[in-house]
Amino acid sequence: MGDYNISVIPGDGIGPEVCTEGIKVLNKIGEICGHTFSCTEYLAGGIAIDETGVPLPEETIKGVLASDSLLFGAIGGPKWEDQPQHNKPEAGLLQLRKELGAFANLRPAIVFDELAEASTIKTEIIRGTDIMVVRELTGGIYFGGPRGIEGEGENRKGFNTMVYTAEEIERIARVGFDTAMARNKKLCSVDKANVLDVSQLWRDVVTELSKEYPEVELSHMYVDNAAMQLIRDPKQFDVIVTGNIFGDILSDEASQLTGSIGMLASASVGGPIGFFEPVHGSAPDITGQALANPLAMIGSVEMMLRYGLKLHDEADKVNNALRQVLKDGLRTGDIMQDGCQQLNTSQMGDAVCERLA
Ligand code: IPM
Ligand code: MG
Repeated sequence: MGDYNISVIPGDGIGPEVCTEGIKVLNKIGEICGHTFSCTEYLAGGIAIDETGVPLPEETIKGVLASDSLLFGAIGGPKWEDQPQHNKPEAGLLQLRKELGAFANLRPAIVFDELAEASTIKTEIIRGTDIMVVRELTGGIYFGGPRGIEGEGENRKGFNTMVYTAEEIERIARVGFDTAMARNKKLCSVDKANVLDVSQLWRDVVTELSKEYPEVELSHMYVDNAAMQLIRDPKQFDVIVTGNIFGDILSDEASQLTGSIGMLASASVGGPIGFFEPVHGSAPDITGQALANPLAMIGSVEMMLRYGLKLHDEADKVNNALRQVLKDGLRTGDIMQDGCQQLNTSQMGDAVCERLA
């Protein structure tokens, strides 16, 4: 039985509310399985700008790096939109990903049977969808140079650079292949190799690596086609591996297949410690009203147990409890359906805890 130090960054908006429920579930699983999870909170995002002037204080980086795993709420909000680019809450998040070396972002898009009707896409198209998007997170156009805005008036020019080294491509592709091996052994690599040189290299490196994974059925798809195929026939996908910006866009699209972004968890791994966060943002419009759906955060706790702390049985228990809550007809407002019972944020956390035992 283990003792684990967990850093928690509640952040802004609904971040703190959903973090409270995540910690509740973590403590409950600790109680049941005999682990201790000691949680320490750190500042990042808008609240860090307000209290320290920067979105990612040095103390946060140090504390997080010294812990076993990071649970992250959400950051950002209208209050900080006028900050200069380098001091926006989002810049803090990008820096944190880089500091943690978290180059692999796993974003599952699972259509739970109970919620199949909540999606805007026809039920028969999405029922049974279970996709894992593996997004490269610390490279590509998000971090490439040169970048900037130059010149004056009409002559201004804005530019960014999409760059990947073969090494960066290979390490994320490997995560893609390994993930596929643990699932249905199908990997779709998404690029724009018909136009971009960086994508041609991506395709070449992924193809070379596929020789090490003869059991995985590899396909390549252009990103525009992938955006279309995700809506046309999402069940054709098992694992998708792609670069930073394509993954950003496609994972939002995939999330909408499931009906509610309030259900989706994510893991960012590859560095010394993993980083686990719900896909939804800070949702300033519903902050402080106990309306937030904590299931994405609870799903992130599950991913932390599974991918961060390698506590697979414990992760399965959380997954079962989460599914049971849905089977029992319990819903938050964002996924409410006829004949179900609506709960607020903390009631939903309690409901999951009750089903863990
Ligand atoms: C995400 C978000 C971030 C990103 C923003 C908040 C910087 O959209 O995690 O997908 O673009 O990576
Ligand atoms: Mg995004």
